[in-house]
Amino acid sequence: MSAQPEALARLGCGFITWRLDQDASALDAMLAQAHKPAAMMLSFGDPRPYAARLQAAGVPLMCQVQNLAQIPWAIEAGAAVLVVQGMEAGGHGMNALQGRGTFALVPEAADWLTAHAPHTLLLAAGGVADGRGLAAALALGADGALIGSRLWACRESLASEAAKQQAVVTDGDGTARSAVFDILRQKNWPEPYDFRAIRNGLHRQWEDRINDLRADPDAARADYQDGVAAGDFERAHATVGEATGLIHDLPSAQDLIARITAQAERIR
Ligand SMILES: Cc1cc2nc3c(=O)[nH]c(=O)nc-3n(C[C@H](O)[C@H](O)[C@H](O)COP(=O)(O)O)c2cc1C
Repeated sequence: MSAQPEALARLGCGFITWRLDQDASALDAMLAQAHKPAAMMLSFGDPRPYAARLQAAGVPLMCQVQNLAQIPWAIEAGAAVLVVQGMEAGGHGMNALQGRGTFALVPEAADWLTAHAPHTLLLAAGGVADGRGLAAALALGADGALIGSRLWACRESLASEAAKQQAVVTDGDGTARSAVFDILRQKNWPEPYDFRAIRNGLHRQWEDRINDLRADPDAARADYQDGVAAGDFERAHATVGEATGLIHDLPSAQDLIARITAQAERIR
């Protein structure tokens, strides 16, 4: 890697935990690097089997959880940072049956940590896109926020410009959480997880017929692939959560962070 040393020193890395249960060689390769990640985030599964390896490598653990029941796993695994993710979030998360909303989950998690693990830092994830969201997360007892969708829609993001423009013009009603895009992309995510993205034409076509899509996905997958190749985001997916309704421009990441921080400071 040719990155500047000071940038490299701050670079973290994340893995999907249920995938490590099938093959953890990428985790081992990462921990064997001369430049170890500044932190490792594990999401979507039980992090405890990987705790000893991270501890031996001296890499701090961040655990992202989606409900209260998962918090003790994270604490037993030695998480220095707990990220609690509400269902508003873009990308993968917990489905509607078992998932929680950020606004009630964060204070409940904060109370749990106060009682059981007061030194663990708490980050709110899901729906935070401006200073109001950050100030709210802090007021709810978090130490900060993990911001995904808003930073995906910034100048440096490698997402396609058409996808980013889709996020700019879509309001917060315009996303949905389902298995549709996982089936179309042949991603075998286990329950209870699914995926939030913009609810485009192809999603609407299949969202009420998930079992039919699973049973006979070929034509829909071809349609999706054509959409990806054409940069047509009525068929290809754009990965943002409900916070897309708060995305109106595509500034640099640095400007975004400064803007969010300044607005939160004014409110507090
Ligand atoms: C484009 C995108 C990709 C994501 N990829 C991952 C991922 O690989 N692993 C993960 O744990 N979470 C992932 N997430 C979820 C984030 O960790 C976080 O929970 C979420 O973005 C917070 O909600 P927000 O999108 O409303 O800010 C992703 C989110 C987005 C928007």
